[in-house]
Amino acid sequence: MEKKKSWWQQPGLRIAGALILLILLGGAVGGVYYTQTPPEQPIQFPHSLHVGIGAKCQYCHTGAATGPTAGLPSPSKCWGCHQQVQVKSPELDKLAAFVKAGNSIPWVPVAIQPDFVHFNHRPHIAAGVACETCHGDVSKMTVAEPQSGQNMGWCLDCHKRMAPEKWARLSDCATCHY
Ligand code: HEC
Ligand code: HEC
Ligand code: HEC
Ligand code: HEC
Ligand code: HEC
Repeated sequence: MEKKKSWWQQPGLRIAGALILLILLGGAVGGVYYTQTPPEQPIQFPHSLHVGIGAKCQYCHTGAATGPTAGLPSPSKCWGCHQQVQVKSPELDKLAAFVKAGNSIPWVPVAIQPDFVHFNHRPHIAAGVACETCHGDVSKMTVAEPQSGQNMGWCLDCHKRMAPEKWARLSDCATCHY
């Protein structure tokens, strides 16, 4: 006869235990690993300046309201303004060089989750969550700065707070991992 397994060998409990550990560690470790230092970008794109002249987030990140990814503007969108804005600067010379060569700009991702996480912008924008809630005050940044502590606990905390009536679905593993 098979020997009865002790409680910590029961698969269900071990998963539950692992999850609790994960959430605790995730909170503690996440904060240490991620810094707010932005990576080196091919052009020092000043968000502050562009948001300051009235460009809306979704004018450049057009996918946010309609799909999973927000997207980045193409060089031709930059050029639509910059072939008219007559300002000389080393950063704009770089932009002109990308446009002239017909190359896309190799921006380094900043706001990024692991591949096994499925995030979708659309339901968040539809629910009225502001970009700033998750990405920080971008209107005061040059290039985008990574935000710390955006782990699983962060997603779940907000789901519980903002949509308690939908908690069953918004905490279901398959909603974010599949
Ligand atoms: C509820 C939190 C949340 C809100 C609100 C939010 N984002 Fe995001 N955003 C994320 C997360 C999480 C990622 C990383 C997604 C990934 O790697 O799969 C991301 C990634 C991005 C990216 C890079 C990848 C991509 O999707 O193109 C851009 C650009 C972006 N967001 C812009 C915006 C803008 C603009 C808004 C407002 C219109 C916005 N986000 C609102 C959480 C949010
Ligand atoms: C809606 C029009 C518009 C779009 C689109 C736009 N820009 Fe600009 N950009 C401006 C204006 C206006 C200025 C301010 C020029 C000045 O200093 O008077 C500016 C300034 C800049 C500067 C700072 C120049 C300096 O003083 O060093 C950089 C760099 C820049 N833009 C890059 C970009 C890039 C890259 C894109 C595309 C991702 C882009 N811009 C898209 C209008 C735009
Ligand atoms: C004129 C175009 C423009 C506007 C307006 C603009 N952005 Fe961006 N955004 C960019 C470009 C170009 C990048 C890539 C360089 C960087 O990471 O800063 C970027 C990067 C980002 C990223 C990181 C994307 C990644 O790949 O990880 C986030 C988040 C973001 N923007 C949010 C915002 C928010 C929020 C607003 C409004 C407050 C905004 N942006 C307005 C052009 C724009
Ligand atoms: C600031 C609050 C907030 C944060 C942070 C947040 N969410 Fe959400 N999320 C919401 C709200 C509000 C909804 C929409 C609930 C509704 O349908 O009314 C939602 C909906 C979703 C949905 C759609 C569920 C469905 O109905 O199919 C997914 C998927 C999701 N979130 C994933 C994530 C992930 C992954 C993260 C973390 C990387 C995250 N969310 C972080 C507030 C948040
Ligand atoms: C609202 C979205 C959301 C839900 C629901 C969710 N997760 Fe996650 N999960 C995340 C995010 C975001 C990460 C990656 C960030 C991190 O390190 O915490 C993650 C990471 C993980 C990891 C990997 C941790 C690591 O350190 O590599 C595991 C395992 C995991 N989740 C299991 C689960 C299980 C099991 C459930 C259901 C009980 C679940 N998740 C429900 C968003 C979610």
